[in-house]
Amino acid sequence: MSAPLQRTAPVDRRDSVTSTNSVIKSLSAERELAEGYTLVAYHQTQGRGRLGRSFASPEGGVYLSMLLYPSENLARAATLTPCAAVAVCRALERVCGVTPGIKWPNDLLLNGRKLCGILTESFPARARQAVVVGIGINVNTPASAFEGDLQTIAVSLAEHTPAPVDRDAVASAVIDELDKMYAAWQIDPRCTLDDYRRLCVSTNRPVTLILNGQSRPAYALGIDENYALQAQINGQIEPITMGEVSLREA
Ligand code: BTN
Repeated sequence: MSAPLQRTAPVDRRDSVTSTNSVIKSLSAERELAEGYTLVAYHQTQGRGRLGRSFASPEGGVYLSMLLYPSENLARAATLTPCAAVAVCRALERVCGVTPGIKWPNDLLLNGRKLCGILTESFPARARQAVVVGIGINVNTPASAFEGDLQTIAVSLAEHTPAPVDRDAVASAVIDELDKMYAAWQIDPRCTLDDYRRLCVSTNRPVTLILNGQSRPAYALGIDENYALQAQINGQIEPITMGEVSLREA
C-alpha cells in the first residue's frame, strides 16, 4: 500500500510556454519550488524531446512537467521515467478508456503510432538534486497540426474516442496518477513493474537497438527489475539501459 495522497504543491496552468521542463528549471533557479509543483500548458513553442531532439507541441495537446526531489541516487531516479509511463497509461485508461502500449523505454503508442513522449531531466536545484518529469500527450491534436512525417508517426487520443477529450481532465488524471505512483515509488521503485511488463510492446520480438547513432539487431526478451530491456545480441543476453528501440517484423 502506498502512503495516502496529500497534494499541497500548486498546479499552474498556462495557454502557451516555451517548454514546461525549461520553465520549471528556470523558476527553480529563482526560488525554492515545492516538491510536486506542476506546470501544465496547452501549447509549447520550444518543446524538447529525448536525445536532444525537439518535441512538436501544437495546440490540442497537453504538456506538463512535475518537479520532484527524490532523495535517492540518480540510477534509482532513472526508474521514475518508466514509472511515469505507467502512470500516464493508467490516467488515460481512467479518463477515456484508451490503453496505450509502452515502447521501451517510455514512448506511449496507440496502434503503433506515438501518442505521448516523456522527458525526465535531473538538475541541481539550490542545495539538492531535482528531477523534472515532462510529459507531452497528443490529446485532440489534428494530424494537420504536425509537420511532414509526423503526420503519420503521431496519433492523438481523439482519433480513438467518439468525441474530443477534455484536456483539463487528462491533465488532472495524469497529475493524480503521478502523485500516487511517486508515493509508491518512494517505498519501492518496482511499484509499476508488473504493469510496465504488461503494457510494454517492445518485448518477445525482434528489435533494432539504437544508441549514439548506431543500430544493432537484437531480440528483446523482457524487462528486468530495473526496467532495463533484456536483449539477446549475438547469442549473449545484455541489459540495455540507454538509447531506444525500433520494432522489427519477425
Ligand atoms: C520524447 O518523446 O522525446 C520526449 C518528449 C517529452 C515532451 C514533454 S512535453 C512536456 C515537457 N516539456 C518539454 O519541453 N518536453 C517535455
